[in-house]
Amino acid sequence: MRLIIQPDYEKLSCWAAHHIAKAIKDFAPSSDRPFVLGLPTGSSPVGTYKQLVALCRSGDLSFKHVVTFNMDEYIGLPHDHPQSYHAFMWDHLFSLVDIPKEQVHIPDGTAEDVGAECASYEDKIAAYGGIELFLGGVGADGHIAFNEPYSSLASLTRVKSLTYDTKVMNSRFFGNDIAKVPSTAITVGVKTVMDAREVVLLVNGHGKARALQAAVEGPVSHAWTCSALQMHPKAIIVCDEASTVELKVGTYKYFKDIEAQNLTPACLLAD
Ligand code: GLP
Repeated sequence: MRLIIQPDYEKLSCWAAHHIAKAIKDFAPSSDRPFVLGLPTGSSPVGTYKQLVALCRSGDLSFKHVVTFNMDEYIGLPHDHPQSYHAFMWDHLFSLVDIPKEQVHIPDGTAEDVGAECASYEDKIAAYGGIELFLGGVGADGHIAFNEPYSSLASLTRVKSLTYDTKVMNSRFFGNDIAKVPSTAITVGVKTVMDAREVVLLVNGHGKARALQAAVEGPVSHAWTCSALQMHPKAIIVCDEASTVELKVGTYKYFKDIEAQNLTPACLLAD
């Protein structure tokens, strides 16, 4: 695992966006061989999406041959509901870059047969040959996508009930009214994320410090589903200083030292 510690959220977002852009460019995608990108929602990726949009606008990046699969979607929210993950993704990324609509995949939380929707989601990912890079966020309790504590680390796309903690956290997007937060969601599984050839997790803010500690220093455990990343051959966590307060000084220094030898994207050298 690599742990990239950036001073603040803006620089974390910049690092992640440049890393994703480089992965896409190095892959040299074409219509026959698209780059398959897994994507999250939530507040964590907003800065990364802004930077990706900027890279597209400056002509440094194109999503023309990128195929996307989102991590999750609430069950029961229409696609045009402002808090649906469909609406979020079009507002923050898809309508601002050159991705063809048919290359975007988001689980359909309005499907009549959600079980069939989950199975067909996995089939579509497989049909593209799997996911090249899965970007993710993390909940304060360490969940990735909607794989709440004690989700199976071998799970695939399925329906999950949201924990009370997650509903409280996400109620900020629903006028602070927990009753308005859907109780269930379709989510990719921990294994779906782990099957990607690379996983990049964004962790920012003091509120994520315990999740970061569990992901980096804790045992691999279904109690903190983000800890599964320790078993991934190519996992990167990009975090800010604020989220590192629960790490041991030795852990913090180890990653700082080792990453100091890596090249820094130009935007991080600006000040
Ligand atoms: C939700 C999403 C996750 C996301 C998490 C953290 O539960 N399903 O994919 O990582 O929230 O959200 P935020 O980035 O807003 O802290």
